[in-house]
Amino acid sequence: MTTKLTVLVAGSTGMLGFKIVSALLEKGDVNVRAMVRFCKAEATPTLDDSNAENRQKIDAMKAKGAIIVEGDVMQPETLLPACAGVDVVVSAIGNSEVTVPGQKNLIDAAKQQSVKRFIPSDYSVDYRKLDYGDNDNLDKRKEVLEYLQLKGLEYTLVLNGAFMDMIAYIPLFDLEHQIFQYWGDGETPLDFTTTDDTAKYVAEAVSDPGFANMALEVAGDTLTSKQLKATYEGATGSKLTEKSLGSIAEMQAWITAKKASASSLNDYVFHQYMYAMLSGKGKLDRIGNDRYPHIKPTTVEQFLSKGDA
Ligand SMILES: NC(=O)c1ccc[n+]([C@@H]2O[C@H](COP(=O)([O-])OP(=O)(O)OC[C@H]3O[C@@H](n4cnc5c(N)ncnc54)[C@H](OP(=O)(O)O)[C@@H]3O)[C@@H](O)[C@H]2O)c1
Repeated sequence: MTTKLTVLVAGSTGMLGFKIVSALLEKGDVNVRAMVRFCKAEATPTLDDSNAENRQKIDAMKAKGAIIVEGDVMQPETLLPACAGVDVVVSAIGNSEVTVPGQKNLIDAAKQQSVKRFIPSDYSVDYRKLDYGDNDNLDKRKEVLEYLQLKGLEYTLVLNGAFMDMIAYIPLFDLEHQIFQYWGDGETPLDFTTTDDTAKYVAEAVSDPGFANMALEVAGDTLTSKQLKATYEGATGSKLTEKSLGSIAEMQAWITAKKASASSLNDYVFHQYMYAMLSGKGKLDRIGNDRYPHIKPTTVEQFLSKGDA
């Protein structure tokens, strides 16, 4: 008889984390612990009811069979009990000032509780191939990966390119002006995966022995910029004006100048992400969807045809 793995999901109330919890529960061969933050102001910690959306998500996770545990990655003392008896920690903590220190705390607690595998909050292009400075958000992933390696905790990275759900918001589309714009020659392949499909692959990655200290690379679709424009036009029936914005070197110069005068990371970080994609530097080289043939990932054409973009 095999014992079921216990998987702790940090960031379970988040956009992706909630889907990961659902995908794990649907897969059905693991115990799922969903970690949620508690209200610090309460003398006796209780789940914070002030956030109605989170409350609904917590109720839904409970109803589907998840065990809810309280934990805040910035309060290390809450993480030891959350990680007790856990086999795999999946992090889906968002991009913020807690990404690095919070995940380091979680790694420390996981290590102390003899957790067997840690999946950090990556879900991105292959940031391992990028240099520090190429992308301010992805630098944080590099730091967390180095910490996992330093601590000797087994990890699996899940890399999916860009989330397809956000495809219409990437800097290639200027839909307000019906323009499709790109840097480079428009022929570099770009990887896209829906958040639903990413969550399903994460549910596989928790227990796949083939990915110890490796990355599971997946993509629902891979299209060049030019193919993306044509696919968008075919799926939506709208015609976009094609505009070349220059070379990849010119894109880098644009980002450097923008960053120098930026008031916030959001002024340039999406362009940094596009740089990793359009330059090919962050391209996924070993896409392994075929390992899980029961998952039929959504293509860009299918996604755009549904009219969700
Ligand atoms: N490849 C792509 O195109 C792409 C696009 C978007 C996101 N991503 C990545 O996907 C991952 C998940 O992003 P997301 O958009 O799903 O994030 P999100 O919706 O912002 O959710 C973040 C989660 O982290 C939790 N959290 C924040 N601070 C915490 C703390 N101190 N202790 C415990 N939990 C804490 C939040 O809890 P509360 O609900 O309590 O705040 C929430 O559950 C990130 O790595 C992000 O960069 C990738």
